[in-house]
Amino acid sequence: MKNNRREFLQKLTLLAAAGSTASIPLSARTKAKNKEDGKSDAFLTAPYLQNMSETEITVSAITGIDSLCWVELIMDNNEKRHVFNKKDGFIDVGKGLVQFKIDNLSPGKTYRYRLYIKEINSFEPYDLQYGDTYHTEIFTFTTPDKDAETVSCLILNDIHDRPKSFKHLLDFNTKPYEFVFLNGDMFDYQTDENQLIEHLIQPCTDIFASEKPFILSRGNHETRGKFARDIKDYFKYPKDKYYFSFQQGPAFFIVLDTGEDKPDDTPVYADIVDFDAYREEQKRWLEEEVMNTSAYKNALYKVVFMHIPTFHSGDWHGTMHCRELFSSLFENHKIDIVISGHTHRYGVHAPNSEHRYPIIIGGGPKEGERTVIHFEADPEQLKVSMLDDNGIEVGKYEIPSQT
Ligand SMILES: [Fe+2]
Repeated sequence: MKNNRREFLQKLTLLAAAGSTASIPLSARTKAKNKEDGKSDAFLTAPYLQNMSETEITVSAITGIDSLCWVELIMDNNEKRHVFNKKDGFIDVGKGLVQFKIDNLSPGKTYRYRLYIKEINSFEPYDLQYGDTYHTEIFTFTTPDKDAETVSCLILNDIHDRPKSFKHLLDFNTKPYEFVFLNGDMFDYQTDENQLIEHLIQPCTDIFASEKPFILSRGNHETRGKFARDIKDYFKYPKDKYYFSFQQGPAFFIVLDTGEDKPDDTPVYADIVDFDAYREEQKRWLEEEVMNTSAYKNALYKVVFMHIPTFHSGDWHGTMHCRELFSSLFENHKIDIVISGHTHRYGVHAPNSEHRYPIIIGGGPKEGERTVIHFEADPEQLKVSMLDDNGIEVGKYEIPSQT
């Protein structure tokens, strides 16, 4: 759908600079990140959408220059709404991550937007000097309709620092989708911001993420490395937690953060993790969700995303602890389907004597193991279709509506 990063940056439009009306090529007017292709460093990423609900969305990006940045929301009548970040009486300026929460949106409505950036050349106490102003191309997004009868999404898992896999896999999809769920282990371990840009955000904005949101769900590799404690800043979650639920169309989605796969006292974890307690916290939260949430009870379909599945994933601690904590809850509260990754062996596991709910497991990072899963639900049925990295359907599962 969307162009690659170079095209994005070429489309970043130079507005008339103060005192100038000339249209000057972007590459000549900005600090070049890479002189050979003239890339601007005004934006290090295209905008990427997070945490979309019926009335709210977060537009995020990473800027590479000291600047004032804002979102322009363009309404149907071409009226423009400018969204800045404000705190303590200040309007945010600076360089790096920017996140704009846009609220008061209408459900089921398509909006146009673009990001503006105004360079700050000097920042003295009584003399702030602005440079040029740029804006991105215009993107669109559509908020979910609270009365929607359908929902659809794509699911990727276990990319493991192979950014080319995003396009390779998503190119096989021909069906509509409203968001992309990244079901853990997008990385081997967390290094720095540049890894997030090059191996996740940019590959996603090249294809869809400026117009459709993605949800990054943690696997057991997003918990590793010196930057693991920082990555959450770059994404937005309901209530700022990696585990949460949301309703969209006829489905109620539960997202669990299954943590590490080995015991917390495994030497390489260096005594700085406590995932047992964290999974138990999620069990208590999940009990509340399934017992006391009317949206859960009333939903036509109940869907769980969790990186480590409760079965078909060996007998290491993470799998066994997830099984012990969650599996009977899934059964007793009629979860319709669990969608996982982690094993690097794709498979569709129908209900059996061990688990009375189906478990769909996406593939691994290597060529020949990779998969993309398409999920769709309507009043008649829930359908999951898994394609391999030749575009061949290697798994499917259908659940008729109970009503
Ligand atoms: Fe994993």
